[in-house]
Amino acid sequence: MTDPVVKETVKGHARLERNVTLMAVATFLTVTVGGIVEIAPLFWIDNTIEKVDGMRPYTPLELAGRDIYIREGCYVCHSQMIRPFRDEVERYGHYSLAAESMYDRPFQWGSKRTGPDLARVGGRYSDEWHVQHLKNPQAVVPESVMPQYGFLAENDLAVHDVSANLTALRRLGVPYTDDDIAKANADLVAQGNPDADAGDLETRYPKAQIRDYDGNPGRLTEMDALVAYLQMLGTLVDVNSAAAQEDLATEKGR
Ligand code: HEC
Repeated sequence: MTDPVVKETVKGHARLERNVTLMAVATFLTVTVGGIVEIAPLFWIDNTIEKVDGMRPYTPLELAGRDIYIREGCYVCHSQMIRPFRDEVERYGHYSLAAESMYDRPFQWGSKRTGPDLARVGGRYSDEWHVQHLKNPQAVVPESVMPQYGFLAENDLAVHDVSANLTALRRLGVPYTDDDIAKANADLVAQGNPDADAGDLETRYPKAQIRDYDGNPGRLTEMDALVAYLQMLGTLVDVNSAAAQEDLATEKGR
């Protein structure tokens, strides 16, 4: 250490390390600069989530099902977030993208898996399977610890002011149109009844599945809503399509 410049630097640093006040000020400055660099850009960019083709706000019926999912505490045992690890991807499908939960308020990632992840459960089983399983999980999987939810098939779905629900979500940034809000109640009923006139429901909500879900076409029950929600999960974004791959490439490249 003969170089005089190095010698001076070491001496300066020794002074910094021995003086608590100086050290505190220097630490504060370093953390401040680092913090500004990390946090400040978030105030200027509109969105931190990469847009992905196919993602759309939930239909009123799916939304009602989601509310029942939350009310019944399904999230206590089920996650909705597939992590990018091989064991998870092989079991549950493509790992979850940020955009896939962008309209979830609150998000349903969950924190514990007593049962399997449900992020891509849509279309994996038939509606009948879901209804049977929800009524009596042990009839389908004898060792299951999942509670029985048969009462959902007995409860008529409460159809009060669904548009208020959509309006509240719009205030939080979910892009429901005036048309969606005006037609919310009609949409809710139409999606669960294949004989009703669904109007332009499928145009406004691409990939919306219109049918009777609970095997009881005469009634719109909470079971209809919950199964409609489950059958939609993970089906909106075609993660394997070329377009999605492109979006994924940009997401990975960030
Ligand atoms: C006490 C924990 C618990 C709760 C609460 C719970 N589940 Fe489950 N769930 C499980 C377990 C364990 C399994 C795996 C065994 C089976 O299929 O029953 C499961 C399986 C499932 C499956 C099949 C998933 C697959 O890929 O095979 C679905 C769908 C499901 N649950 C939906 C729900 C819904 C909807 C609710 C709320 C109404 C709910 N669960 C509440 C524990 C729970």
